[in-house]
Amino acid sequence: MILVTGGAGFIGSNFVLDWLSQESEGVINLDKLTYAGNLSNLEAVRNDERHVFVHGDIGDQALVEKLLVEHKPRAIVHFAAESHVDRSIHGPAAFIETNVNGTFALLEAAKSYWTKLEAPERTEFRFLHVSTDEVYGSLGPSDPPFSETNAYEPNSPYSASKAASDHLVRAYHHTYGLPTLTTNCSNNYGPFHFPEKLIPLIIANARAGKPLPIYGDGQQIRDWLYVKDHCAAIRRVLDSGRLGETYNIGGWNEKANLDVVHTLCDILDQLAPRQQGGSYREQITYVADRPGHDRRYAIDARKIERELRWKPVETFETGIGKTVQWYLDNTQWVQNVQSGDYMKWMERNYDQRDSERKQA
Ligand code: NAD
Ligand code: DAU
Repeated sequence: MILVTGGAGFIGSNFVLDWLSQESEGVINLDKLTYAGNLSNLEAVRNDERHVFVHGDIGDQALVEKLLVEHKPRAIVHFAAESHVDRSIHGPAAFIETNVNGTFALLEAAKSYWTKLEAPERTEFRFLHVSTDEVYGSLGPSDPPFSETNAYEPNSPYSASKAASDHLVRAYHHTYGLPTLTTNCSNNYGPFHFPEKLIPLIIANARAGKPLPIYGDGQQIRDWLYVKDHCAAIRRVLDSGRLGETYNIGGWNEKANLDVVHTLCDILDQLAPRQQGGSYREQITYVADRPGHDRRYAIDARKIERELRWKPVETFETGIGKTVQWYLDNTQWVQNVQSGDYMKWMERNYDQRDSERKQA
């Protein structure tokens, strides 16, 4: 078995579904079910006995130790985190609690379990930490993409908390010999992406006839990767990655936010035209910028390609088409996650931006 943390979230649930469809091993899925965790993402494996869901916190070291002793997983794949940059600006404490203290507790539990293992289980055990390209900070227009040797320069409470967790993982390898692997990935998109993030938010708002909010001038650049390509990369690193190493994962798809939004509008115009006519582009609205907004991210993914023979399968064009179609086919999923808490977040984040913009 493997233990996955955060397997009811966006990337974690895609990973669990992919894993169970491709591997014979089972998954223990430990998730706190915060606003971002959603068991309906895992509906397809509800009757699969290889999937054991545990509702709990990675910060509960005793619980994690108990799970490790009981199920004896050969690896931990650690996704659980607070993941939204804007939320980290409004309330950083939860990010420190889960991303830093939670990862620390998880590492302690993993060390305690791994130390007591005997060969060959001890040699084969892996702790794979899923992290982000945001730890490297922001690139200028002509800077080369982030490589694994770039200095850490996190700029938001979210990226600072992820950077801290990366450093803890590194330290547990160097100090205690814990067999760790770290991946730093660029922006993901695809099914089950929570509609507080740019791509699913734009699709949901477009369909609901609401404004499509563009922060600042919309010329910030992100490097987009289809989520199933990320899952395949993680499986490859888990299988063949060198211990203590970090691997950057990206899609070689740098796009300005405004271009991404235009693409979404154009696809929606084709697949689900507005009843009143005209293009969804007419709903685009410029709002106040994100404080400390990183201008550009881009990943140099040559190391994982060279060493582990991984390359993305999807282009941005194929991946974004599949994504829009998934959201059109799963409107009930979107409606279900747009609960009371979601509405409060939308008011908090966007009403303030509107008034800041009007004052400017
Ligand atoms: P998400 O917010 O969609 O899901 C996070 C999951 O973690 C949720 O199911 C939530 O319930 C769970 N969780 C939160 N706190 C927990 C705790 N204390 N104990 C147990 N479970 C907890 O996040 P995501 O977008 O799927 O990201 C997953 C991981 O990948 C994160 O570590 C993130 O930093 C990293 N990452 C994300 C992206 C991206 O574009 N989304 C890119 C690179 C890296
Ligand atoms: O780079 C990897 C990171 O990508 C992950 O580590 C994070 O967990 C993930 O959330 C994502 O972070 P971003 O901040 O890049 O993603 P988000 O979808 O929130 O925003 C993408 C870009 O779109 C960013 O430049 C901000 C902008 N944006 C976002 C929202 C929600 C808008 O212009 N309007 C919006 O309403």
